[in-house]
Amino acid sequence: MALKIFSNKSLRDYNTFGIDVQTHTLYETHHQDEIKEALEYERRNKQTPPVILGGGSNVLFVSNLPAAVIKVNIKGIKILREDENNVWLKVGAGEVWHSFVMHCVNNNWAGIENLSLIPGLVGASPMQNIGAYGVEVKDVLYEVHAINRSSGELVIFPASTCALGYRDSVFKVKYKNQFVIYDVVFKLNKKPIVNTSYGAIKQELEKMKINTPTIKDVSNAVIHIRQSKLPDPKKIGNAGSFFKNPFISSDSFHLLKAKFPAIVGYDLGNGQYKVAAGWLIEQCGWKGFRRGDAGCYDKQALVLVNFGKASGKEILELCSDIQKSVMDRFNIHLVPEVNVIG
Ligand code: FAD
Ligand code: EPU
Repeated sequence: MALKIFSNKSLRDYNTFGIDVQTHTLYETHHQDEIKEALEYERRNKQTPPVILGGGSNVLFVSNLPAAVIKVNIKGIKILREDENNVWLKVGAGEVWHSFVMHCVNNNWAGIENLSLIPGLVGASPMQNIGAYGVEVKDVLYEVHAINRSSGELVIFPASTCALGYRDSVFKVKYKNQFVIYDVVFKLNKKPIVNTSYGAIKQELEKMKINTPTIKDVSNAVIHIRQSKLPDPKKIGNAGSFFKNPFISSDSFHLLKAKFPAIVGYDLGNGQYKVAAGWLIEQCGWKGFRRGDAGCYDKQALVLVNFGKASGKEILELCSDIQKSVMDRFNIHLVPEVNVIG
């Protein structure tokens, strides 16, 4: 498929929040050479550096973009090698994440079944170090293949060089806006050990009356849980958790616990606690709140939603109001997980 270029294009169908902003140029790319071509054209014409887009499920556009958008559609799942225990898969950045998970589950390749139904494309998965239900991409990542945006050089990043942390990686900090990911290599297990450490999975499997779960069962359990509390972006615009769960010191956590005994936090064992931001936001009265078409989801307070025609600015105003009330009440600063663009 050849490089496709659109002028003055609305991005409404390119972000799961459903925000209607425009870009002057949208490139639909299907091969790393097409990405290079688009980057080179924009550089030669001294344009604002382009925005790289996958499935648009972790972005909030707040205005028309002064930049072009490069949408990464590179497909393909290829077995690079395998041995008795593992399989190494090279996956195009434009593959749909959940379809890739289903492909692995159906082949009984284990490691990402707990990450079923996360929206978006494979290319963003190491960037965000996506995580859910006790697993993160860092547990299975082998290599990231990326294009240097200024030189066009192809670079291989072994997983150990990607600085993967909680919803964080080298591509979001040290190398922010410097690389476009075109392939990701994962190392999966051929001898599955299911991970049901997350309480909600155990409860769901009990409900399903399954004692010795397969990875398919774990995947189904995760899908059920997610469908029961997260809004489907096809029906209500959203980008999943809007904020990260904050980390605070054990001392601060115990002081808060004395004042708010029901506070939800997890001991990270390193002198820090991870606090459930959804609980903090709910306590401040935001759960189910709606102003115009911007709102806070009624089943999960950590998810901000667009009921139809909200602008990115209106969602961002709600974000600021929530941050302020959580700060006033708990003295905790909530950091957005969503990438705010424009
Ligand atoms: P985009 O939104 O298109 O991009 C995200 C960021 O990555 C942007 O900064 C973009 O510039 C950059 N980027 C994208 N592709 C590339 C590339 N190829 N090269 C370089 N940079 C790139 N996330 C979780 O971790 N866990 C969850 O459980 C979870 N649940 C969600 C539930 C819902 C209903 C929704 C809507 C979102 C959820 N998310 C979750 C967030 C989101 O799905 C993930 O962050 C996902 O990885 C984003 O992928 P994407 O392709 O849509 O990225
Ligand atoms: N809670 C409330 N009220 C709410 C929401 C949550 O009190 O409205 C409390 C409950 O006590 C609940 C706890 O918070 O038990 C945790 O909630 P949940 O299990 O829904 O998980 P989360 O911490 O809100 C995180 C990730 C999700 C991921 C789930 C499951 C972040 C920012 N979010 O949510 O990821 O799917 O755990 O592992 O870490 C995403 O990143 O977009 C995302 C959806």
